Amino acid sequence: TERTYIMIKPDGVQRGLVGKIIQRFEERGYKLIALKLVQSTPEHLEKHYADLKGKPFFPGLIKYMASGPVVAMVWQGLDAVKTGRVMLGATNPLASPVGSIRGDFCLAVGRNICHGSDSVESAEKEIALWFPEGVVQYTGALESWIFE
Ligand code: GTP
Ligand code: MG
Repeated sequence: TERTYIMIKPDGVQRGLVGKIIQRFEERGYKLIALKLVQSTPEHLEKHYADLKGKPFFPGLIKYMASGPVVAMVWQGLDAVKTGRVMLGATNPLASPVGSIRGDFCLAVGRNICHGSDSVESAEKEIALWFPEGVVQYTGALESWIFE
C-alpha cells in the first residue's frame, strides 16, 4: 500500500503537539513504519524543499525548519498521500477546516506545524532523503479490521 512522509515541524515539537499528531494517524488506521527526532540542517532542508527555491519566503522557511528538531515519520495505508494531506489541512492554517491538524492547532502559514508529501513521487523522494537507512516492515495486528 501507499506510503507518505509526514514531518512535525520545529514549532509542533516545541509546542508539545507530537503526541496529538501521531495519535490522529494511528487512530485513522495508518501504520507507522519509520520515526525519528532529528535536528536538520539548512543543506538537507534545501533538498527537501528544492521545488520552492526562488520563492520569496524560501530563506525564512529554511531558517524556520532548521530552528529546532523535527519529527520525521513514514505512515503507510490506503491513499496515505492524499488523505494525509486532508488530515493536515491547507497550507494556510486560516484556510484549513476545523478538524484538520492545522485547522485545530495553528494560525500562520509560516508556522504551520506539519508537513505532508504532495504526491506519491514526492513521497518516495522524501522517504529516501529522510530515511536513507530504510523503513521497517511488520504486520499490523489490526490490519484485517482496517482493510477489507
Ligand atoms: P508542506 O507540507 O510543508 O510542504 O506544505 P504545503 O505542501 O502545504 O505547501 P508548500 O509545499 O507550497 O510550502 C511549503 C511550506 O512553505 C509551507 O508549509 C509553509 O510553511 C511555507 N510557505 C508556503 N507558502 C508560504 C508563504 O506564502 N509565506 C510563508 N511565510 N511561508 C510559506
Ligand atoms: Mg509541500
